[in-house]
This record gives sequence, structure tokens and C-alpha cells, in this order.
Amino acid sequence: MTMYEIIEKKRDGKKLTKEEMEFFIQGYTKDEVKDYQASALLMAMFLKGLDEEETFWMTDAMRRSGETVDLSMIPGIKVDKHSTGGVGDKTTLIVAPLAAACGVPIAKMSGRGLGFTGGTVDKMESIPGFRTSLKPEEFLELVKTVGMSVIGQTAHIAAADKKLYALRDVTATVDNMSLIAASIMSKKLASGSDAIVLDVKTGDGAFMERQEDAEALGRLMVAMGEAAGKKTAAVITDMNQPLGKAVGNGLEVMEAIDVLKGCGPEDITELALTLAGLMICAGEKAATPEEGRQMASEALKSGRGLEKLQQFIRGQGGDDGVIRDYGRFPQAAYHRQVVCERDGFVESLKARTVGIASQHAGAGRQTKEDSIDLSAGILLKRKVGDAVKKGELLAEVMGNDPKKVELAAEEVKRAFIIGAGAVTAPPLVKKVLMSGK
Ligand code: URA
Repeated sequence: MTMYEIIEKKRDGKKLTKEEMEFFIQGYTKDEVKDYQASALLMAMFLKGLDEEETFWMTDAMRRSGETVDLSMIPGIKVDKHSTGGVGDKTTLIVAPLAAACGVPIAKMSGRGLGFTGGTVDKMESIPGFRTSLKPEEFLELVKTVGMSVIGQTAHIAAADKKLYALRDVTATVDNMSLIAASIMSKKLASGSDAIVLDVKTGDGAFMERQEDAEALGRLMVAMGEAAGKKTAAVITDMNQPLGKAVGNGLEVMEAIDVLKGCGPEDITELALTLAGLMICAGEKAATPEEGRQMASEALKSGRGLEKLQQFIRGQGGDDGVIRDYGRFPQAAYHRQVVCERDGFVESLKARTVGIASQHAGAGRQTKEDSIDLSAGILLKRKVGDAVKKGELLAEVMGNDPKKVELAAEEVKRAFIIGAGAVTAPPLVKKVLMSGK
């Protein structure tokens, strides 16, 4: 077997075997397959496609290409959650405590933000003292005692993905359904949980702009999870406007706390209850997702979710006083208001533009090495469907660099499209996909 033969076969639209996929992934992980041959094969895969079986073989080979986490010493059904990325998406910090408060152990690895989408690890680091890098024993001990832990993903998980993703990024082969599914699911499967709930975003601020593409990706990832023997569900959700009202690391943690206090924005509360319901059901603490949602809602109302968040923050060395005193979060020195220039209704609020503006305010990084301003970001005062009047506040932009804040404020202004007629916001949860449905 040679890489030349494998590339030629896929170039001609033929199906690869499990052994050929294994040869490629193992060889590339060990630097035995060169970048130019891997690039050629990725492009052939991109153009000719992979069927479900090939996608699974690729996912599974990638899963085994690095470290795999063993969570078997933790009793119960461990449930993981993943979002394909969006703007203002702080749901992990809400759903993990809610599911854990209902008895579902959460042992989660999260990523950092890159580009216009945020990452849970950066958000958690806005809490003074919070440690996102723990020794494996500490991580497992917290899951056992607190019921949850969230840490940064180690570089050793699905080692092939790290190399392949970097190559896809520079060879125009990122946005292929099979390659995305294999990349995401190899990492999720290597992280050791027994069940996975996926939040697949669709809209202007998502990888998959069209709903049918997001659904196809969701179905494929559910199939990959099930083929690996894990209970898997996917929710297709709207990302045409940011989720909630806060965008930016510290601001998003404050909003997550607000949700757990019962005073957060409605859209994110709604999505969090749906996701937590699915997780509680996948963890077999509820018979149906609806019953799971009810349990999550009770955990929210009773304050048990907030209490779990507090234990989690304390467990990972963070200052849990942030829950009552938001002044303990990093504070921005500059604030700039964005006001409305005409009467009307918010017709759209472009998620991607808001995400880029938040990045420009200092909340995001352009390259992995960039440092970020944890206080920077945007607080939206109006969202799609809201009536607005000339001179009214649309958003507040903040950060520590006045030039950056100024530039970001101009961008936020452009993200708001004000029309004359009343509009209704699109539904946030568009579809729930479970195996066999
Ligand atoms: N996120 C990933 O982890 N991989 C992809 O290919 C796309 C999004």
C-alpha cells in the first residue's frame, strides 16, 4: 500500500478501505506521510467525498491517533457536550452545572476561541485564579466529588486532528462535512464520555450557513457517535444573531451566572434548558428529553445549578465571590455607546459582524499566540424584533484600548440593520436529531 495509490483511488472517486484510511492517518501522525501527499488526499476527499463508512473509519483512526481518556473509574453515565462554535455561546457554563446538579457527571475538555468565535477556556480564565489546566488525577477527583470539571483540551487528544486541521486551514479543505465530522467526533470520542450532545449552529455566524447543511452535519456526527457505541444527539440552533446579550469573555461568564440566577436573557435560558434536558436524558437520569428539561428547570429555579457552578469554580481554584460581586471580574477602562440613528425595528443583528467586532475590541485573537483582553466585549441592549427609537442605546462596547473600542463600536453599528416594519426573531432551536430520527 502506498500513499500514491490511495490518492489516485480517491482522485478517481473510489471508496477507500479501512486499512487505507488507517495507513494514511497513522502515517501522517507519525510524520511518515508528507504534507504534500496529505494535502492532495484531503483535496481528493473534499472533491469526491467520503461515504458514512469511510467517515467513520477516518474518525476512529483519528480518535486512536493520540491519548484517549479513561473515565471508567467515575460511576454513572458521563455526558459530554459540544458546540460547533458561535458568537456569545456560553452555554457550557450553564448546562454543565444544571446537568451535574441533576446527577449527570460532566468531565469536559474545551477549547480556546479563535477568529470571531469564543472558547470556553478563555471565558473561564476571566474568573480570578481559575485553573483550566489540571493534572489528570485532579480532573477525575473533581468529577467524582463536585460532579463536574471543565479543562482545556490537551494537545495529545486526537493528535492527527491537530496536524490535519492546520493543513486543512491552508489548503481550502476545512468546510467539508465528512472532514468536519471526523475532526470534531474524533476529539469527542477520545475524551471518554459515554454520551454526547451536539449543538450544531446554523446562520451567518456559523460554519454551516444553510440549515440543511447544518442538519446534514448533525446527522453525520450523530451517526459517527452511535457507530462508536455512544448515545449521541444533536440540536440545530440559530446563529444568525448572537446568543444572549453578552459577547466577550468576562461579560459572558457574568451572563451565564445571571442565567443560573434566573435573570438571564430568554433565548440562552431556553437553549440551555433544551441542551441540559438532552444531557440529563442521555445520562439516564430522565426517561425523556422533556422530563430532563423539567429537571433542569427545577435545578435552575431552586438555585442548585448556581450552587454547582460555585462549587466548580472553587474546585478549580477560582474566586467564587464573582457570583455575587461582578466587580471581581477584569474591568474595562473604556466604554463606548452605540446609539440608534432612526426609529424602527431591529431587522437583523449580524452575528459574524458582532463576533469580529468583539475580537477587534480585544476579546479574541487573530493567531493562537495573541493575548486577549478578558474584560473586552459587547453588551447588546437590543436584539432582532425589538422596536427602537432614534437616540436609543443599541449596544455598549468595552475594552482597555480606546482605539480598538472605537473601531469595534463602528462595526457593531453596522451589525444592526434597522427596518421600518415589525419582524419576529427566528426560532432559536430549529430541530433535535437523535439516532434513528
Ligand atoms: N471544529 C473542529 O474541531 N473541526 C473542524 O473541522 C471544524 C470545526
